[in-house]
Amino acid sequence: MADARPFHWEYEEPPVQREAFRVEGGRPLRGEVPVSGSKNASLKLLAAATLTGERCRFTNVPEIADVHVMVETLRDLGVVVDHPARNTYEVAAGDVDWLFVPLEAAAKMRASFILLGPLLARFGRVIISNPGGDRIGRRPVNLHVEAMKRLGAAVSYKNGYYFAQAPGRLRGGQVDFPGVTVMGTENAMLAATLADGHTTIRPAAQEPEVDDLIEFLRAMGAEIVRSAPDTIEVEGRRRLRGADHRVIADRIEAGTFIVAAAVTGGEVTVRQAPAAHLGAFLEAMDRVGVALQRDGDTIRVRGSADPGAYRATDIETSPYPGLATDLQPPMAVLLSRAQGTSHIHEAIFEDRLEWLEELSRMGAAVEMVDDHHATLTGPCRLRASEVVMSDLRAGASLILAALAAEGESVIHGAHQVRRGYEDIERKFLDLGARIAHVSEA
Ligand code: EPZ
Repeated sequence: MADARPFHWEYEEPPVQREAFRVEGGRPLRGEVPVSGSKNASLKLLAAATLTGERCRFTNVPEIADVHVMVETLRDLGVVVDHPARNTYEVAAGDVDWLFVPLEAAAKMRASFILLGPLLARFGRVIISNPGGDRIGRRPVNLHVEAMKRLGAAVSYKNGYYFAQAPGRLRGGQVDFPGVTVMGTENAMLAATLADGHTTIRPAAQEPEVDDLIEFLRAMGAEIVRSAPDTIEVEGRRRLRGADHRVIADRIEAGTFIVAAAVTGGEVTVRQAPAAHLGAFLEAMDRVGVALQRDGDTIRVRGSADPGAYRATDIETSPYPGLATDLQPPMAVLLSRAQGTSHIHEAIFEDRLEWLEELSRMGAAVEMVDDHHATLTGPCRLRASEVVMSDLRAGASLILAALAAEGESVIHGAHQVRRGYEDIERKFLDLGARIAHVSEA
């Protein structure tokens, strides 16, 4: 049995452009902000394009670091990726020179692992590095590997790399996951589209980004249905054709800006917000007492500056349609300003609450119960501080906290947010925020 323990190489990161944000907080945000295309949909769509040799064209792709890493990884494989305009990418995976996804890609971005399914299904073999990515928890990929084996692949593990091959062709099968895994569902689905026979995946993740991927695969000629909310059925095809696709809006970015308006007592109109994908989040905002007006994909937020205007509430993260774990950090900033004690249950990742330590340094009354539970008692006045971003979503939330805090904060590790929020500084500046980045040696 291959050693499937996650393998963490000591990997000397190339000197990325390290930067900090200086934020002068305490000012209400006002104005309009457009939501960009979804990071988590884009990365899988770009990978899915390797299922065919024909050209695929994607629009509304956010210009973010993770997309650029995926593009670079595809190009390193020998895939042609053109970038004819901002937010538009064209992929043509006619042939590939290598079937090797290196540590460099995986160390920068866990989502590089989504290449396992499509490359294995199309070319019959791939060597792919065990991913790194966000430091929120162990982040294993054992379920992805098990799914490939259920589809007839042989996968071994050595020195941080998975060696996968499918002599002949993958064959359809029953993929039963012990619990919901978003990318596990996506990897299995991508592999199944070219497998020989029928595949059933359950419980299949229900995130909107999964359905966006299904829509694109169908446009490519794949035979895929959601036969039940948590079940995906695929009839494998011999080959798929090129297709065009517009990426859905990013629900996590939308939620982040809604909280930004609420915690700064501002008035913000969030445009192109995928309101239909924010059900659990908007319901939680309602419970807290944030004044929201929804008109299609435009959400108007009228925040309140007076302490105690918001009510404490309990939140629990869960797979879609539950409250997204990626929106837990922004919600925590809001709850730090709510009257009363809120209980946070982070049910998906085992150390996605660690960042609350930085929030407590800004004055939030945080009590860590265990890896999955914490309480926040408010209202508290957040104070400007010097803090460090640990991951993408916590990073964005520290910006929200700094915008709400009186005085000047410095947030180190700002390059983290460039991974997943397009033009985040410009968007905040356009809302009247005082934020500037300073590069750090
Ligand atoms: C996706 O990660 C998203 N990333 C995450 O967003 C998001 O937080 C997460 O889904 C949950 O919604 C992308 O789509 C690129 P999982 P994913 O597999 O698919 C365990 C962001 O900031 N698990 O649904 O990797 C895992 O440890 C990122 O945009 C295994 O044990 O998450 C976790 O506890 C952060 N073995 C749980 O399942 C596996 O093989 C759910 O993880 C895979 C997962």
